[in-house]
Amino acid sequence: MKFLIRGGKKLLGEIAVKGAKNAVLKAMAASLLFSRPITLENVPAIEDVSRLAELLEKLGAKTERKKERMLRIDPTPIKSGRLDTEIAKRLRASMVLVGPLLARRGEAIFPYPGGCVIGKRPIDIFLDGWKAMGAKINEANVSGATVGGFAIKAKKLHGTDFTFRVVSVTGTETLMMTAVLAEGKTVLRNAALEPEIPALAEFLNASGAKISGAGTSTIEIMGTGGKLLAARRPFTVIPDRIEAGSFLILGAALGKKIKVTDCNPAHMSALLAKLEDAGVRCEVGRNWIAVGRPKKILATSVQTREYPGFPTDLQAPFAALMTQAEGESVIFETIFENRFGYVEDLKRMGADIFVADTHRIIIRGPRQLRAREIESPDLRAGLAFLMAAILAQGESTVSNIYQIDRGYEKIDERLRKLGAEIERVE
Ligand code: EPZ
Repeated sequence: MKFLIRGGKKLLGEIAVKGAKNAVLKAMAASLLFSRPITLENVPAIEDVSRLAELLEKLGAKTERKKERMLRIDPTPIKSGRLDTEIAKRLRASMVLVGPLLARRGEAIFPYPGGCVIGKRPIDIFLDGWKAMGAKINEANVSGATVGGFAIKAKKLHGTDFTFRVVSVTGTETLMMTAVLAEGKTVLRNAALEPEIPALAEFLNASGAKISGAGTSTIEIMGTGGKLLAARRPFTVIPDRIEAGSFLILGAALGKKIKVTDCNPAHMSALLAKLEDAGVRCEVGRNWIAVGRPKKILATSVQTREYPGFPTDLQAPFAALMTQAEGESVIFETIFENRFGYVEDLKRMGADIFVADTHRIIIRGPRQLRAREIESPDLRAGLAFLMAAILAQGESTVSNIYQIDRGYEKIDERLRKLGAEIERVE
């Protein structure tokens, strides 16, 4: 499957943001902490949700989509602690399942995580955290003799005072969830601040957990000593700030006027500040933001940082925008060591980009982009390519669109509604 895109169109209209991929995946993992089924609302229809649901089913849990955006997960029939190798290797986010699984069953067996091609993405911090809570970790062959992975066992998990040597989003989430069922108090220091973390903590606290400080760099968890939680309300997935930000950047490059609705502007201040620097006027409402392409896009340098800094997941789309800006901009990717996989293809489309090192590129613009056949390396670069293809003169194809469908629901339908000429072809 690939997208066929005819470029040169201006976009106009409204686009509603779906539930956040990086919130819903963790809430699905949290279901393992519960004695009874949980219900999730505002669930996006994306591939990663389907894959994680499959992983839960293989563990023995029951998942079912009730209405269009509702997902019900019943963890009670769980009978295994072994993550399906094929699926877990393709989905880095499967790592968030390991903590709650270990906490619930006292064991978790899983392959080395695969995931995006944006860097080594080790799990050393996860393993150190579980060891600090009393788990024993052995390397294991997890399916036949071929695939390497880990078998983690813990008769009893106890609280710990743990400092992250590197801020890790899923590391914070999975150790927070592990600590919920441990014996005693856990303190997580240098924790990530992403808004998906307090959203998860609020849901767990409403279900009987005792978590304080989520959303700050020090999180304290009083463990239940193994007693499972009981949800008293559904988990409502917060709007996807990365999808919303992607559409704003799209609007800044291509829009007569694009109104992004059902979003939370408070989660997007770093991007809004950079769009203003680039000469893009952002009209901000309670749950919507409207932008349009300015007469002149100004070259603007960005450094990606942990939240609340400029998100690394918007680095590729912003770089695509900077190919249209007047002057020279530097993109400094500080989180991952290999997140410029898209640069060569943008250069083949006519962009002027110099790769200074594995963390920095220099973009000179504006450059008219030409249509090309391109392949998306990861889901965020995939969106940057869609943007570049709509900017380019002529007909482009973007292949490997599974990567885009992983994190953006029905993206072709939604962009067509804005006037883009894009269709999904074999
Ligand atoms: C989460 O990944 C997101 N994924 C990523 O979004 C996002 O890019 C990233 O956070 C940073 O914001 C999900 O939430 C499912 P990290 P995560 O652990 O948690 C190093 C997308 O497009 N590190 O915060 O895997 C790591 O190498 C995805 O939706 C270790 O060294 O990222 C990286 O340099 C892509 N050891 C840095 O920390 C560890 O044990 C931050 O990674 C763990 C991480």
